[in-house]
Amino acid sequence: MAVTRTFSIIKPDATRRNITGAVTKMLEEAGLRVIASKRIRMSREQAEGFYAVHAERPFFADLCTFMTSGPVVVQVLEGEDAVKRNRDVMGATNPKDAAEGTIRKALAESIEANTVHGSDSDENAATEIEFFFTPQEIVG
Ligand code: CMP
Repeated sequence: MAVTRTFSIIKPDATRRNITGAVTKMLEEAGLRVIASKRIRMSREQAEGFYAVHAERPFFADLCTFMTSGPVVVQVLEGEDAVKRNRDVMGATNPKDAAEGTIRKALAESIEANTVHGSDSDENAATEIEFFFTPQEIVG
């Protein structure tokens, strides 16, 4: 299995509750290594650009408001089959549907305040990593 990279956001509901360490512990225990990390406050422009694929969805405006409502931690994660490994440990988008042992089952508050974002493909991971990180900030 190839070692690949994915992009993660620890969302404002998690920074508000001071559980970024708990989230990161679950990522690390799932076999992912944090090779870049920074705590930022996303601008509205960044949120709208990052989630542009959802621009036509009814929840878009609320999503951008939520993602700019407090600090987030953006991370690059590395591991074997990192995109799938991360999505497996995150669990389903809606915590009501998330499996036992996943981050969203254990920690998420709602479908919006669902604690973590993770890329859904290698291609999107590369785009999302580039959106927030320079190559110099990634130390594998
Ligand atoms: P994320 O993986 O960050 O990508 C898009 C986000 O939209 C998703 O996580 C959810 O947190 C959020 N969202 C809010 N409402 C909905 C909804 N009704 N359906 C899907 N995603 C939603």
